[in-house]
Amino acid sequence: MKVLSPFFSVALTQSTLCAAQGYTNESEVPYYGLSPPVYPSPVGNGTTSNAWKNAYQHAKAIVSKLTLEEKVNVTGGFDGACVGNSGAVPRLSIPSLCFQDAPDGVRGQEFVSAFPASIHVAATWDRSLMYQYGNALGEEYHDKGIHVALGPVAGPLGRIARGGRNWEGLSADPYLAGAGMGAITRGIQDAGVIASAKHWLLNEEEWRRNPGNLGESESSNADDRTIHELYAFPFMDSLRDGVGSVLCSYQRVNNSYACQNSKLLNGILKTELGFEGFVVSDWEGQHAGVASANAGLDIVMPDQGFWGNKLTEAVNNGSVSTDRINDMATRILSSWYYLDQNKGYPSNGVYANDKKHDPVDVQGDHASLIREIGAAGIVLVKNTNNALPFTNSTRFLSVYGYDATLPPSPWNNPSRYGGGYEVNFGWNTFNGTLVTGGGSGGSTPPYVVSPIQAIQERISRDRGTLRWDFWSENPTPAYVNSDACLVFINAYASESFDRETLQDEFSDNLVKNVASNCTNTIVVIHSAGIRTVDTWINNPNITAVLFAGLPGQESGHSLTDVLYGEIAPSGRLPYTIAKNESDYGRLLNSTISFDAFPQVNFTEGLYIDYRYFDKEEIEPRFEFGFGLTYSTFGYAGLRVTANNGSSSTAELPDPDIAIVQGGHPQLWDELYTVTASITNTGNVTASEIPQLYVSIPNAPVRQLRGFEKVPLKAGQTKSVRFPLTRRDLSIWDVEVQQWRLQRAEYGIFVGASSRDLRLKGSVRIQ
Ligand code: NOJ
Repeated sequence: MKVLSPFFSVALTQSTLCAAQGYTNESEVPYYGLSPPVYPSPVGNGTTSNAWKNAYQHAKAIVSKLTLEEKVNVTGGFDGACVGNSGAVPRLSIPSLCFQDAPDGVRGQEFVSAFPASIHVAATWDRSLMYQYGNALGEEYHDKGIHVALGPVAGPLGRIARGGRNWEGLSADPYLAGAGMGAITRGIQDAGVIASAKHWLLNEEEWRRNPGNLGESESSNADDRTIHELYAFPFMDSLRDGVGSVLCSYQRVNNSYACQNSKLLNGILKTELGFEGFVVSDWEGQHAGVASANAGLDIVMPDQGFWGNKLTEAVNNGSVSTDRINDMATRILSSWYYLDQNKGYPSNGVYANDKKHDPVDVQGDHASLIREIGAAGIVLVKNTNNALPFTNSTRFLSVYGYDATLPPSPWNNPSRYGGGYEVNFGWNTFNGTLVTGGGSGGSTPPYVVSPIQAIQERISRDRGTLRWDFWSENPTPAYVNSDACLVFINAYASESFDRETLQDEFSDNLVKNVASNCTNTIVVIHSAGIRTVDTWINNPNITAVLFAGLPGQESGHSLTDVLYGEIAPSGRLPYTIAKNESDYGRLLNSTISFDAFPQVNFTEGLYIDYRYFDKEEIEPRFEFGFGLTYSTFGYAGLRVTANNGSSSTAELPDPDIAIVQGGHPQLWDELYTVTASITNTGNVTASEIPQLYVSIPNAPVRQLRGFEKVPLKAGQTKSVRFPLTRRDLSIWDVEVQQWRLQRAEYGIFVGASSRDLRLKGSVRIQ
């Protein structure tokens, strides 16, 4: 691979150069925000594994039989049953591939499940649930005849606190997000469906994500190290676990549109990370024909965009090479073969009875998994006076707030895509409970168990008493005999716009008003991401607070399982909750610019979320990784062992070993193992989530590099093992363009959150 730009190494060392040249701000460096050209586009060849090799053999054979027009047909979108449908070649039995949202459930159809949103899954910190989630999703996509599921999501990562789509992704931490990306990818693909990791890359805000009347889209400008260590990092896990498709994002990256950015597609994705599958554009995210083809885009959606006949012409006149068009078609069909979809696939019903899709019921028994993940992702952040769990004598509850109940109708916010609806129950519309977010990432629930429904079920079983007021800002004072007052509020977010606030006055007043009349007030927050709570969190009448996330269709049941102690809470925050919105500093809002070429400079580099709070020594209200449960845990016996037999601790991976999908294979070698033992020192069965943080020299103060969910009976002790891979310990060296281990001492910490570090040690790499 030849890198043509004279700016290549320069652009990559901008921090150093910035200082050396007397600039105080990277954005002042003249070449900041320039994307180096990387051509030609690498030809996929299936060297990663036998499965890919086999898929490529079949794909190459069939592509050799296609006419140019047929190849072009395969690389574009047409109308059909799904939000995207590729061109078919009926004479060779190549079907139209059906692409559909969303990352938390098939959208816009009937008899499908509404799973918890990805941010909720991340909050479980449970690798097994992450996989089961992906697999159950995959089963539903498969049985609906959908070939490509548009997820999982690691972009946005969550750079800005008010990002409209953060909830569609997994976490503001690349390691936790990566664990989810890998597990969900495997889950979806084990069910026979092609996963499409999105949005590649730096789609961190909604403001001007697309070009429009004001000019071009925003350009997310990030330096090479930040791209690798933060934003591309979680995609590596998805790639390593075999993802068949990657969706390129809307906005520009270093001033080149992501779907025609050769550095991102040809360079990082297809060369460094050895991607074997195909790149699909975000919907109408293609902005040029020849440029996108040569930069590595393989298929355009939802129509033929700048391709179609023009692509045929471009191949005929040599602007796009025959190798490239062959590679485009081969990559698309390789993924199809890789997932064995050629061996028979359910119909997506487009032609049946003239209806858009068959009413096939694909829900299986997923409701119980949804309920389980719903409960596992609830984060308990305050619990005083033994407010929770409720006991057998908790039989009289008062329930307040718009988020406790269903909206008047689920149809009041019709989706723009696919005929479904978004459960848009935002606070200011006083609409009802929030179980998903808005836009293409919103699910389409077959039903929603509201909190009040589940509480009623429980109260009737316990022969208890219930009072409620869903709509008042200052509800009638609770009956003095109430055992507890539950207040339900939410915070909505959606694709297409960033949030205006992380809190709202109506909801905060509601909480304060209830608390002023009730000495045992329990607050439940359903939120699409961060929700600040400082106007009332220290009120002594507020005895418990739960972040109940975006739990999907079984919302109420998941909640009552935790409230009544059927399940001890084990969710942990996948982001930082600040005391004040202003504590997020420049990472609070999108960068609002009315320029024709708006520039969003990621000059904070690696320092987002807790990395930023740690660096600036800002005390958060609730730190990343924090969450309480109904028991307590002891930590002991930290050990760091060098693994005999793993690859050496050479500073760089062996250059003679070929790249496979996911990157250099040695990046995944487990160089060290950290062990510790965890004891449940309380009286009830509960799960602890010990977390491993590493202080990598010349990098953020501490970074998450391991976690495990450990279920423990009262008094029980278990040993937990965290493997540390070469990638976990490396930094991206912009000079040599490789992951580098440093000859230095690394701090090792195991604890209950990013700030509750119980065990400390170190390891010296030499
Ligand atoms: C645009 C969104 O950005 C993307 O996530 C989605 O998959 C497509 N629309 C299709 O709905």
